[in-house]
Amino acid sequence: MRFPPGFRFGMATSAYQIEGAFDVGGKAPSIWDTFTALPGTVRHGEDGRVAIDHYHRYAEDVEHIAAAGVRDYRFSISWTRALADPGFYDRLVDALLAAGVRPVPTLYHWDLPQDLEDQGGWLNRDTAYRLADYAGVVVRRLGDRVRDWITMNEMNVQTLYGYALTDHAPARGLGLEALPVAHHQLLAHGLAVQALRAGDAGAVGIANQHFPVYPASDDPADAFAAELFRGLTNWTFSDPILLGDYPDEMIRAGVGTSGAQLDRDLELIAAPLDFYGVNFYEPTAIEAPRAGKDYSGVLEVDIPEGLPFSPVPVKSDERTDFGWAIVPGALTEILVALRDRYPGLPPVIVTENGASFHDAAPDPSGRVRDPRRIAYLDAHLRAVEAAIDSGVRVDGFYVWSAFDNFEWAAGYDERFGLVHVDRETLARTRKDSWYWYRDLIAAHHTSGG
Ligand code: FCB
Repeated sequence: MRFPPGFRFGMATSAYQIEGAFDVGGKAPSIWDTFTALPGTVRHGEDGRVAIDHYHRYAEDVEHIAAAGVRDYRFSISWTRALADPGFYDRLVDALLAAGVRPVPTLYHWDLPQDLEDQGGWLNRDTAYRLADYAGVVVRRLGDRVRDWITMNEMNVQTLYGYALTDHAPARGLGLEALPVAHHQLLAHGLAVQALRAGDAGAVGIANQHFPVYPASDDPADAFAAELFRGLTNWTFSDPILLGDYPDEMIRAGVGTSGAQLDRDLELIAAPLDFYGVNFYEPTAIEAPRAGKDYSGVLEVDIPEGLPFSPVPVKSDERTDFGWAIVPGALTEILVALRDRYPGLPPVIVTENGASFHDAAPDPSGRVRDPRRIAYLDAHLRAVEAAIDSGVRVDGFYVWSAFDNFEWAAGYDERFGLVHVDRETLARTRKDSWYWYRDLIAAHHTSGG
């Protein structure tokens, strides 16, 4: 593999998934604290109250990150912690910089303050302005040391799983009525870009999840359903940023804002970015619902009846232990599709990619063998290389994740880390994939990268 000089290899995490210390320093609850406390929301009833205790173990964690030779570390800032106990992020950023790692914080990775949810959450336009206020506070505090910022993480997943369905916090189950959530998060992004620029941020981007959507068959009804689903889950969250408008009339009519206010919002949302983050895991297949067919249990999420599309499993020989299809070519495909759709696409960073395998505990010699994760990452990096060869500008790749962590509604069974974390002792052990990634980065630098 060969990557352009200066290519940014990194690792990624998010606050609720690793920090723990859920109420330390006066930190107020987020919607994930509330959601995980409800019965039946998370596999095995697990939660992020302790998580991997990164809050207390950040110094050791920074060593695991830095020793791999990565240039960038993407983490997220907990909104409620940053307001109550911002000193934690000072310490983390200082430790990263001292170790020669560039901090790339995400402002919002799904952990909305519960008191804002109580006022309507992302259905309330005011939440966007509150996020911008918080962005201002954080950039004033860290802006002297942090250059690169990511505004929002996967607004599509928050909208779909948190507000349209009930799989994630805040579990509203609104179906298509959730569309205003998309618009208010996009507005929050636009306002945050403004606040970060006013605070002299060096580079600003976003992390959007993208994936190819395949019709399940040649049937035109499936093609139509796939097109609709693609618009709702992909282009709704990128067209406003990169083209200044929603993908179609139906969606524009559904976002709950119209007329001159919508025009002004879209102008703000389309402010230029320095990089565009793409999170990629797997493609999706869609069919038009077949009368009488039972879709319950087909995928791990339950899709309500009456929607004009049904996700069905993607044909693929290989799956991760989470059941996600392994289709590396789909990463090349989506990167090329983004370039073709958006003439003004800024340089791309793959801000998340990785795989869950249920790795065994360290063997007596302290080794964690995870050959399938290495194969997954190797194949996906080659897919990025192929996209670069086709002329897409990709400036970096961040592995999800640095550490095994709390995988939302799936809890701790799903291990995405390059570093293994023991659930009882919380001891960290570098997996074979960690050493593989270190060697790949070192080879890149030795060969002049
Ligand atoms: C993404 C999330 C991230 C992580 C990975 C596996 O959708 O952004 O927090 O859970 O999936």
